Amino acid sequence: MTGARNMHTRVLCWYIFSTILLIKNGSGNSQGGGIPSMTPSDPASQQIIDWAAQHPANAAGTVRDDQGCPVPSLTASLGIGSRGNLLLQDVFLINEIAAFNRERLPERITQPKGHGAFGYFRVTHDISSLTKADFLNGVGKTTRVLARISLAGSSRGCSDMSRDARGFAIKFYTIDGNFDFAGTTGLSYPIRDPMLFTDLSRSRGKNPQTNAKDITMRWDFSTLRPEGILYLLKIFSDFGANSRVIDTHGVHAFKFVNKDGIPVFIKFHFLSQQPFRWYNDTEIAMVAGMDPDSSARDLYDAIATQNYPKWTLKIQVMTAEQALKSHVSPFDPTKVWREEEFPSIPVGELVLNENPVNYFNDIEQAAFCPGNLVPGIEPSPDRLLIARMISYQDAQRYRLGVNFAQIAVNRPIMQVKNYNRDGFMRDNPNGGGGPNYFPNSFHGPTQNLSAGQNIFHVNGIVDRVDYQDDVEDNFRLARLYLYKDLNAAQRGRVVHSLGSSLALAAKEIREKAVRELFFRITPEFGKLVWDSMQAAVAANHPN
Ligand code: HEM
Repeated sequence: MTGARNMHTRVLCWYIFSTILLIKNGSGNSQGGGIPSMTPSDPASQQIIDWAAQHPANAAGTVRDDQGCPVPSLTASLGIGSRGNLLLQDVFLINEIAAFNRERLPERITQPKGHGAFGYFRVTHDISSLTKADFLNGVGKTTRVLARISLAGSSRGCSDMSRDARGFAIKFYTIDGNFDFAGTTGLSYPIRDPMLFTDLSRSRGKNPQTNAKDITMRWDFSTLRPEGILYLLKIFSDFGANSRVIDTHGVHAFKFVNKDGIPVFIKFHFLSQQPFRWYNDTEIAMVAGMDPDSSARDLYDAIATQNYPKWTLKIQVMTAEQALKSHVSPFDPTKVWREEEFPSIPVGELVLNENPVNYFNDIEQAAFCPGNLVPGIEPSPDRLLIARMISYQDAQRYRLGVNFAQIAVNRPIMQVKNYNRDGFMRDNPNGGGGPNYFPNSFHGPTQNLSAGQNIFHVNGIVDRVDYQDDVEDNFRLARLYLYKDLNAAQRGRVVHSLGSSLALAAKEIREKAVRELFFRITPEFGKLVWDSMQAAVAANHPN
C-alpha cells in the first residue's frame, strides 16, 4: 500500500503542477481537451488495486514452482543457520534467479517502445469489386484484431512523447489466415531503397561513442538523402503524441485482386475518429518527464472506461493503366498519391475495445510482418515493401525463436497444417504421426492451387540504380503538403520545430540542411527556417 500511496502523492503533485502550467500557458492548442495523462484515479494507476478487489485473499492458494512443486518459502533461502553459507541445493532460489536473468527478450531492432490492445475491424462499405479478401467482403463482417502502436527509432525505455514517427501494426485474425498491416504516421517514408534502411535507422539512433542521441547524425543523413523531405515535414508538424489521435498509413502500394483476377493498386489509411490533440514544447517536456508511458496509459484508460478509440479505414485506388502512365513511380514510398488525384474511399472501422491481459504475452511477443498477406491482397513492386516482407520474420526468429508463430498471440484462427517440423519450443502437434514430406501417398495435406498469386509480366534490365533523377517531384509534394494541406499557423509551427531541432546540430550540417532541403522547397520557407534556427541557436548560446 505504501507504493500505491507514493504513486498517488506523485500523481497529485503532477496534476496540480500541470494544471497550473496549463492555466498559465493556455491550452488552446487542441480540439481535444486537456493533457490526457495521469490523474489520481485513472484506471491504469488503479489496475493492481482493481485486480486485488476481484481476487479475494487466499483465492490464489500457495506457490508452486515451474515444475508444479510446492515452494516452502518466498522470503528465506536455504542456508546454514541464520548466518552461514547458502546451500546450492536451494533449487527454488536458483530457478528464481535464473528465470529473472532471462526475462528480457531482445528489443525490436526498430519500433521497440510500444503498447497495444485487441479489438475488431468491421466492414462498412462494399469493395468486393476490388478485392476477394474475405475479411474485406460483406458489409457488417467483423474480424478480431490486435494493434500495437510504437515509436520508430527510440529505445524501449524512451518517453512516449519523443518526436518520432509512430508505427501502428494491426494483426487481422481472418479465416484465410493472419493479415498484418504495419504502417506509420509518416504518410511517406524517408528512403525508397532498402539498402539504406540500416543507415537510416543508425542515423536516428545513438552515437556509437557517446551512446546519446545525436541530432547532427540525423540531419547529416537527411541532408544527404533529400528524397525524405516530405516525411521530415510531417514529423516536424503538429505532434499528436497520443496513440488514440494519430492516423496511420500503409505507405506502400499493395495490389488488390478481385474474384475475376483483376488487379488494382491501393494504399491503406486508418484515420483516427478521436479529435486531434497536439502538444506544444512545454507540454511535451512536462509529460515526458513525469510519465514516460503517457500514451500507453491513455490508451489503457480509454479502453478501461469504455471510451473505445476508433479509426476509419480508407483506401486510395490506382488502376494498372494509371500506374503505367504515371510520370513518376507510383511505388516509391517517399512519395504520396495526392488525394485530389486519387480520392480515398471508406472501407470499414477499426475499434480497440480490449486491453491486453498481460503486456508481455500479448504485446511484447506479438510478431507482425508485411509479408503476412491473405488471398486478394498482394505486394506491389515497391522494393522497400519486398525487403520488409523478408526482414520481419527474420527478426522474429532471432527475437522470439524459430517457432514464434506458435505463441498464442501470433497463432492464426485457422488450423496450421504444413510440412514444417520440430525446432526449439515447438508447441503444436508437430504433424503427429502423419507424413513429414510432400508429395506423399499417405494422406498428408495437399496444395491449394486457388490461393495462387495474380500472374503478371515483367521485363527490364537487372542493375543497381540509385535513382535520384525525380527528387524534384519529392519537393513538389513537399510544397503541396506545406502550402495546400497546412494552414499558416500549422506551417509556422513546422518552421519553429524544425528551427529548434536544427539548432542542436553542428553548424556546418544545420546550415547545409537549410540550404539543401528547405530553401529547395521555396526560398521563402528556407528563409523562415533559417531565421527560426538562428533564433534558437542564439537562445541556446546567449553569449
Ligand atoms: C526496408 C525497410 C524496412 C525494414 C527492413 C524494416 C524492418 C523492421 C524490423 C526488423 C522490425 C522489427 C520486427 C520485430 O522484431 O518484430 C520492424 C518493426 C516495425 N516496422 Fe519496419 N522496416 C522497414 C520499413 C518500415 C516502414 C516503411 C514502415 C511503415 C510503413 C515500418 C513499420 C514498422 C512497424 C509498425 C514496426 C513495429 C511492428 C510491431 O509493432 O511489432 N517499417 N521493422
